[in-house]
Amino acid sequence: MTIARSPERGKAAAVAPWQEFHRRHVLDLDDFSSEEIEQVLTTAGAMSEVLGRRIRKVPTLRGRTIVTLFLEPSTRTRASFEQAGKVLSADVINLSGSESSVKKGESLVDTAKTLEALGADVLVMRHPMSGAPNLVARATGLRVVNAGDGWHAHPTQALLDLFTIRQRLGRVDRLTVLIVGDILHSRVARSNIWGLTKLGARVVLCGPPTLMPSQALAAFAAAGQRLSIEPDLEHAIPQADVIMTLRLQKERMDSGFLPSMREYAALYQINDQRLARAKPAALVMHPGPMNAGVEISHEVAHGPRSLVETQVTNGVAVRMAILYLLAATGEDA
Ligand code: NCD
Repeated sequence: MTIARSPERGKAAAVAPWQEFHRRHVLDLDDFSSEEIEQVLTTAGAMSEVLGRRIRKVPTLRGRTIVTLFLEPSTRTRASFEQAGKVLSADVINLSGSESSVKKGESLVDTAKTLEALGADVLVMRHPMSGAPNLVARATGLRVVNAGDGWHAHPTQALLDLFTIRQRLGRVDRLTVLIVGDILHSRVARSNIWGLTKLGARVVLCGPPTLMPSQALAAFAAAGQRLSIEPDLEHAIPQADVIMTLRLQKERMDSGFLPSMREYAALYQINDQRLARAKPAALVMHPGPMNAGVEISHEVAHGPRSLVETQVTNGVAVRMAILYLLAATGEDA
């Protein structure tokens, strides 16, 4: 492999990054083993070393074509997939809803088949409907990466969050991660619950009862994941090693979930007063985009405990790892 001079420096890699990856798609983390998650994180460690070089370019995916198809808004996810593909020397084609024939009424599967016929190897897609990437994965020969589907899943965000936690705290195992906010509409929360618990963390959820998906949580509990709900943020904060706060997904809310933004902020905003009750080493994460002043205060968002920018930076390394594992080593590559 042309990427790694060393795997994660200073750490014995449990899984060699160049080991074969036994999957064609990344749709969610529910069916990942902890070893597969480790393989992605170890590979991302090698990729972040590439990103630290003076010349950030390796020929690993030369001759491969990656298409990003985003049918919902995105800044960081889309830009980081594009950057990841380019650093690996792949050809990257970016399509959005307004530019693609989906807008003209072509079905999603037909659009994906067209992209396949044009020679795409990997399709990175974001879609407002839960399950859309699974449909494309079944109906075409493309390798599909889910970059966020409806309320369902956002596996690469969860992987970059795991990578960031491990980079900063040295492990994920036995940490307590508090996820605060609009859990109901959050694909980030769902994928993170799978990823964090598979790596041994305890996940505590806190948010307004109207934004807490009780049936879905029962499914996680039935799968044996270490997950609990703490309705009172003041009780939840002192337990946490990491506090992950989520954007209120206003675009997915019909009216009636919350009395007002002001009331939400009063009860659930992560701010300096609340952080004063956290463990001294506790860190704050947010997947972005932030509604600063609502779920997180400006001071905390840009303060010393915030990992928000580190998450964005690590997003490139983790997406390089995913593209590399699927396009260069994946099953039948
Ligand atoms: C998240 C998403 O799109 O699900 N953003 C992201 O990918 N960084 C979270 C959000 O939109 O709130």
